[in-house]
Amino acid sequence: MGISNLSPCLVYGLMGLCAFLSVSHSLTLDYYAKTCPTVLQVVRKEMECAVLSDPRNAAFVVRLHFHDCFVQGCDGSVLLDDTITLQGEKKASTNIHSLKGFRIIDRIKNSLESECPGIVSCADILTIAARDAVILVGGPYWEIPLGRMDSTTAGYELADANLPSANEGLLSIISKFLYQGLSVTDMVALSGAHTIGMARCENFRERIYGDFEATSNDGNNPISKSYLDKLRSICPPVGKAAENNITAMDNVTPEVFDNSYFHMLMREEGLMNSDQELYSSLLGMETRALVKKYAAEPLAFFQQFSDSMVKLGNITNYDSYFTGEVRTNCRFINT
Ligand code: HEM
Repeated sequence: MGISNLSPCLVYGLMGLCAFLSVSHSLTLDYYAKTCPTVLQVVRKEMECAVLSDPRNAAFVVRLHFHDCFVQGCDGSVLLDDTITLQGEKKASTNIHSLKGFRIIDRIKNSLESECPGIVSCADILTIAARDAVILVGGPYWEIPLGRMDSTTAGYELADANLPSANEGLLSIISKFLYQGLSVTDMVALSGAHTIGMARCENFRERIYGDFEATSNDGNNPISKSYLDKLRSICPPVGKAAENNITAMDNVTPEVFDNSYFHMLMREEGLMNSDQELYSSLLGMETRALVKKYAAEPLAFFQQFSDSMVKLGNITNYDSYFTGEVRTNCRFINT
């Protein structure tokens, strides 16, 4: 990999500089006001159809946006298919069999190409779609700075290096957020996205055959016990066949964007190790306090989630910003 393919943060190795670089160029709220004034309505309409047909589509799109932004910035790189000359990110270990929602973005792109051809980047579409996804399942609204460009490269190795995983320790996950210019507060608030969507057995097996019983049950909580039995019936202790069996990450209101994820962590019923560590890790005094706060104050959670999503969406890839393009098909770079 040439040095120009590395993120500036990696080249300079400075967290402060990284944070500065990630927000310093000018995305603007009215970027498409003259060139594609209906962009927000078009995305909203398509997202309404998608979420109405299946609320899980909201979760797919939110996660897609997160996985885009953590790999060479929010530049639509996650949307690229493999070709002879380009290795996309879809088959990286954190994404394979897991990341979905690409067809929804294709549909929005097609509508926008009819409405205003060659104008709206796939990276911007994904950012707006993720915001709308959150609103459509009951979450907060926030305004989105626009003007991202689409990359002409993807970061297969970076996907595995930068994205956090279910059995990773709290400090390692925190350092991945800091590296992107996001704080511990951003990390905890953004983790609240796990109030919607599902996880696969592969990602919660270690937790349910690990410390779940000890932390959640406290010896005599019958609800936790029956919940654990249910999880174990979905996900047996061994066997590849069950790896893709799924269950909701929020066991109370799985299809609603609310703060019940944080209540669940306080009951020590977090589905994945990475979830429960926010509350239970001995190294997590700060994260534990934030979990309690967002459980007690839903509006504080919504406000912080909105602010943190804007920060997430502003992570920039300098290569893409200056040499990027507006793809006509989100899956392929323009010829
Ligand atoms: C803090 C570190 C994080 C870790 C370790 C993590 C890990 C995971 C894992 C392992 C899954 C299940 C994937 C599967 O089984 O197929 C998942 C699902 C999900 N994640 Fe995260 N995640 C993190 C943060 C985030 C953030 C910041 C967001 C968005 C802002 C997010 C949004 C989602 C959503 C919506 C789903 C459900 C997707 C679906 O239904 O398929 N996650 N995450």
